[in-house]
Amino acid sequence: TQPPLIDPFARAISYLRVSVTDRCDFRCTYCMAEEMTFLPRRELLSLEELDRLCSAFVRLGVRKLRVTGGEPLVRRGITEFFSAMGRHLGTGTLEELTLTTNGSQLGRFAKDLHAAGVRRVNVSLDTLNAEKFARLTRWGRLDRVLNGIDAARSTGMRIKINAVALKGFNEDEIFSLAAWCAGEDMDLTFIEVMPMGDIGTENRLDQYWPLSDLRARLAARLTLTDLSERTGGPARYVRVGETGQKIGFITPLTHNFCEGCNRVRLSCTGQLYTCLGQEGSADLRAPLRARSDDRALEQAIRAAIATKPKGHDFDYSRGIRGQMSRHMSHTGG
Ligand code: GTP
Ligand code: 5AD
Ligand code: SF4
Repeated sequence: TQPPLIDPFARAISYLRVSVTDRCDFRCTYCMAEEMTFLPRRELLSLEELDRLCSAFVRLGVRKLRVTGGEPLVRRGITEFFSAMGRHLGTGTLEELTLTTNGSQLGRFAKDLHAAGVRRVNVSLDTLNAEKFARLTRWGRLDRVLNGIDAARSTGMRIKINAVALKGFNEDEIFSLAAWCAGEDMDLTFIEVMPMGDIGTENRLDQYWPLSDLRARLAARLTLTDLSERTGGPARYVRVGETGQKIGFITPLTHNFCEGCNRVRLSCTGQLYTCLGQEGSADLRAPLRARSDDRALEQAIRAAIATKPKGHDFDYSRGIRGQMSRHMSHTGG
C-alpha cells in the first residue's frame, strides 16, 4: 500500500468530493443566477475518466467519496458510475460512498443508489413551504423532493437535511424544520451562505444570516448540548434535549473549521480544487487525456495536495466584491 495523502499542514486527506456535472434542474437564488451558461459537453470528464481518477484517489487512501454537482442525479449514466464506485467498498480503503442532492430525482434513483452501496444521503432543502420552495429554486416542486426522500428512506438509507440559513427567508422555519426532521428521524444541518459565484440580481449580504444568531434562537426554546463526535465533514453537532435529535452547524463565516480539513474537490472538468474557498486548483484532466499511466496520475494528485492552502478567507466585512468567482455548482459545495 502507498503512503497516505498528507497536505503541507499535516492534515490527512481522506475525503474526496466529486462534482459530476455543473448542471442542475433548479436555480436556487443563493447558488445560481436565473440565466446560467453551463459547460459544453467536451469539457466534462467522461464517466470512464471520472472512474479512473476516483479509483486513483481510493488507491491513495481516500475513505469517503461524496458525489455532488450541480445536481448529480441529472448526469446521464450516473447509476453506472455509482455501481462502479461501489465496487471499491469493502475491498480497499473506501468506507463510504454517498451523495449530496436536491432530491428532485431521488424517487427514480433511490433503489439503484442503495444497490450500489449508498447508505446515507444528504438532501438540500431550505424550506418546507411549497410556495417558498418554488420561489427559492425558481421552479422546483417540493412534493417531488418529499416523495424522493420517502423513496430513499424506504430503501433503508439515512437522510440528512442541509438547510442554508437565509435571512428573511427561512428564519421563521427553523423550528418547523427541526420538528419535521425529529419526527422523521433525520439529521439536520444548517449552513451559512458563502460568497461564491455571481448570482445575478440577488445580493448575498441581504441573504447572509449568521448561525450564531440562529443557534441562539434555537437555544431560547430547546436545550442544546454540544457533541464532540464528527462525521468527517465540517459540521459541529448539538443534541436537542427535548427530541433527542442531532442538529449540525456549518459555519465558515462565524467559525472557521479549516484546521481540521480532510478533503479536496474534483470538479466536473477534472480540476482538483484544494479548498472550497480558494481559487487554487490543479488540472488532472490533462494527464488523464495524455494517457498517463497510474503512477503519473497518482503523482499529479500528490503534487496537487502539496499545494493545499491553510484555509479559506471568506469575509463579508470586505463586502461581496473580490470574493470567489467560481460557483458552488462547479465544485459541489
Ligand atoms: P457529512 O458527511 O454529512 O458530514 O457531509 P458534509 O457536511 O461533508 O457534506 P455536505 O455535502 O452535506 O456539505 C454541506 C455543505 O457544507 C457543503 O455543500 C458546503 O456548502 C459546506 N462544506 C462542506 N465542506 C466544506 C469545506 O471544506 N469548507 C467550507 N467552507 N464549506 C464546506
Ligand atoms: N453558500 C452555502 N451553501 C450553498 N449551497 C449552494 N450554494 C451555497 C452558498 N453560496 C449549498 C446547497 C447544498 C450544497 C451542495 O451547497 O444548498 O446544500
Ligand atoms: Fe441546484 Fe443545489 Fe445549486 Fe440549488 S443549490 S441550484 S439545487 S446545485
